Amino acid sequence: MENNDRGKFGSKLGAILAAAGSAVGLGNVWRFPYETGNNGGAAFILIYLGCVLALGLPIMIAEFVIGRRTHTNIVGAFEKLAPGTQWKWVGRIGVISAFFILSFYSVIAGWTLEYMFEAISNGFSGKTPGEFDAAFTAFSTSPWRPLIWLILFLVATHVIIARGVEKGIESFSKLMMPMLFILITVLAVCSVTLPGAGAGVEFLLKPDFSKVNSQVFLAALGQAFFSLSLGMGTLCTYASYFKKDTNLIRSAVSVGLIDTFVAILAGFIIFPAAFSVGIEPDAGPSLIFITLPNVFQQAFDGLPWLAYIFSVLFYLLLAVAALTSTISLHEVATAYIYEEFKISRKRAALYVTASCCVLGILASLSLGVGRDILIFGMSFFDLLDFVTAKLFLPLGGALIAIFVGWYLNKRITRNELTNEGTLKVNSYKAIIFILRYVAPTAIMVIFINELLIA
Ligand code: PHE
Repeated sequence: MENNDRGKFGSKLGAILAAAGSAVGLGNVWRFPYETGNNGGAAFILIYLGCVLALGLPIMIAEFVIGRRTHTNIVGAFEKLAPGTQWKWVGRIGVISAFFILSFYSVIAGWTLEYMFEAISNGFSGKTPGEFDAAFTAFSTSPWRPLIWLILFLVATHVIIARGVEKGIESFSKLMMPMLFILITVLAVCSVTLPGAGAGVEFLLKPDFSKVNSQVFLAALGQAFFSLSLGMGTLCTYASYFKKDTNLIRSAVSVGLIDTFVAILAGFIIFPAAFSVGIEPDAGPSLIFITLPNVFQQAFDGLPWLAYIFSVLFYLLLAVAALTSTISLHEVATAYIYEEFKISRKRAALYVTASCCVLGILASLSLGVGRDILIFGMSFFDLLDFVTAKLFLPLGGALIAIFVGWYLNKRITRNELTNEGTLKVNSYKAIIFILRYVAPTAIMVIFINELLIA
């Protein structure tokens, strides 16, 4: 397959919104709040912000450099820049991560569809917090209902991928991302004005460092990588569709800002609402499926039609945010398979979708009928999450930092960051310093600490 058949993003804004579409997703609205709840609130958020700024952004820039320089999939990219070496394993682990994340992520994405249809049929109306709790448990542990949504979600992802990336992803992201921001902002405002919301705001703003240990650092690091879609080649793959004149540093900063903004706002939706209806902040993965329907009912008490519209729109947009992320995960694996094994894009996409259906079904069942089957003390679902977010992504990130910081010819990096000398870049030295020393050391220290304690 020739490189010029691969397509490109049509505009700079489109490229940024597509990358932001990959970053913004369930990681922000579903995972970030419960990780924050499990790890002590504001102190976790501060450490998280540190991870995004000091490690996430430079590594994102490194991924952009690799992707745009090579215009190929993640394994091919390492093969091109470091022919005949083992560096391609970083790409291969990225592809494995894409399969794993896509599988468990689509389970939750499927849940958003169930909730969207529940909202459409006005199923939230008049329910008490206890009833939402019971309904969620009954649904998520049921053996077949979540599977239907899971498969439907993977098929939707498949359809977009099989039609090619640019038109689908780019126009989809351009339309949906602004709507998502507006809705999320309005919801946050509603949530902080609920009675009793103050405790939730305090939980988000008042750091309690007594809860901080090495696990909190690993959780923050893992969350930063997961949320920014880093360490596994998603952003390399997207950058391989960037144009020559895209400003890589500015794009990375935009994506990082958008992603962080959405995550923090999601916190301001969930916690004030959770405290207001008396739900513990460390409720775990079920947090948004129990608290949010409550918020809609209570925030618009007396205005049922507004509650209705908001519930429907929110779950619709959550599903769309998840879709712009699953597309990016799927693309990593599809691009790898069709380019490296020289088969058609459609066929490659089919293989990816089919294998993720199998893994996803196992992950979904491991939360219900199979909940007694534990691997290393975790359900299959939790295992996929743990192996990717807490092991593969940070490790992949460290290796990508080392690759660009130490291995890659500095001329290549400089040319990519300055667009062949046409842009003035003041942060070049700082970026290289972080990639060489700070990122690998920080990630290793956090890892070793975690291993010694475990
Ligand atoms: N960043 C996405 C989110 O926050 C998830 C994701 C992880 C997507 C890794 C691609 C790669 O929802």
